[in-house]
Amino acid sequence: MKKIGVLTGGGDAPGMNAAIRAIVRMAIYFDWEVIGIEEGFSGLISNKFRRLDSSAVSGIIHQGGTILRSVRCPEFKQKRNLKKAIKNIREGKIDGLIVIGGNGSLKGAHTIQKQGIPVNFIPASIDNDVFGTEDTIGFDTAVNTALDAIDKIRDTAVSHERIFLIEVMGRKSGFLALEVGLAAGAEAILIPEVKFKIEALCNILKKGIKRGKKSYIIVVAEGAGKISEIGQEIGKRIKGEIRVTTLGYLQRGGSPSADSRNLASRLGGLAVKLLKNKKSGKMVGIARGEIVPVPIEKVYLRRKRIDLQTYQLAKILGL
Ligand code: F6P
Repeated sequence: MKKIGVLTGGGDAPGMNAAIRAIVRMAIYFDWEVIGIEEGFSGLISNKFRRLDSSAVSGIIHQGGTILRSVRCPEFKQKRNLKKAIKNIREGKIDGLIVIGGNGSLKGAHTIQKQGIPVNFIPASIDNDVFGTEDTIGFDTAVNTALDAIDKIRDTAVSHERIFLIEVMGRKSGFLALEVGLAAGAEAILIPEVKFKIEALCNILKKGIKRGKKSYIIVVAEGAGKISEIGQEIGKRIKGEIRVTTLGYLQRGGSPSADSRNLASRLGGLAVKLLKNKKSGKMVGIARGEIVPVPIEKVYLRRKRIDLQTYQLAKILGL
């Protein structure tokens, strides 16, 4: 192997740059060339390749986003586009590829591997919903970003004695909502994985009100329902001022935390080392605190499950 390619796909996540840096520097250590593919899978199709040398990745470890940029690319599922991508990889004399991203990118990585190109995958997503790894690059940063915002909202919630519904990201999963809800001491956490009844939620609020509780923080994952509608339903049943707020895309940006950067450096380094040892078709992830390779084949169709014990704990502690 002489030349490897790297791309970032799907929603960006803080720490992606640290991973790109780690890949480039580790590859240079092996005397390899690195090609950065811009705009994810879309850049593979349209041949947006550029060489990354050591200086191209200097001064980026602390930056959010991705210097390679990212594009959601459903067109990659079309056969003719896959063909174009493979042709570009071959013509670019790229011997191996490292894909950084979430579940969609994991599927893309698997598709390319099946075409005979050695591919390794690095999980990076603020959602932390990739099966086969305990942690994804960017999750810790997003949790802390959201926590900082919720702590601030708590100040005003207490001053004005209001009930706040705060939407955090996570269209399909509640990992971010659960982690940040537990850390923020939220009185309730709504996630797509656990069905909730508005009556049960209002009972929690009513019990608190009886005890003299005046303000509430309810963390709602994007995929758990529309906060405006949930707010209205609560308003029909409970006296009190309700406010809703969506944290939105600020959760995807910002300087990565030490945890996100170091995870990125470790996973990036391992992804390259595996290629060096002629091992591909692997996702590098975290299992029991250790960085480990797992076959993409075994994870790309699986769904990561939420830890219901933690959910239960947050519920009990939030009462
Ligand atoms: O990257 C994951 C994520 O941030 C989800 O939490 C969110 O639902 C989605 O991406 C938003 O996607 P887009 O960037 O395409 O609007």
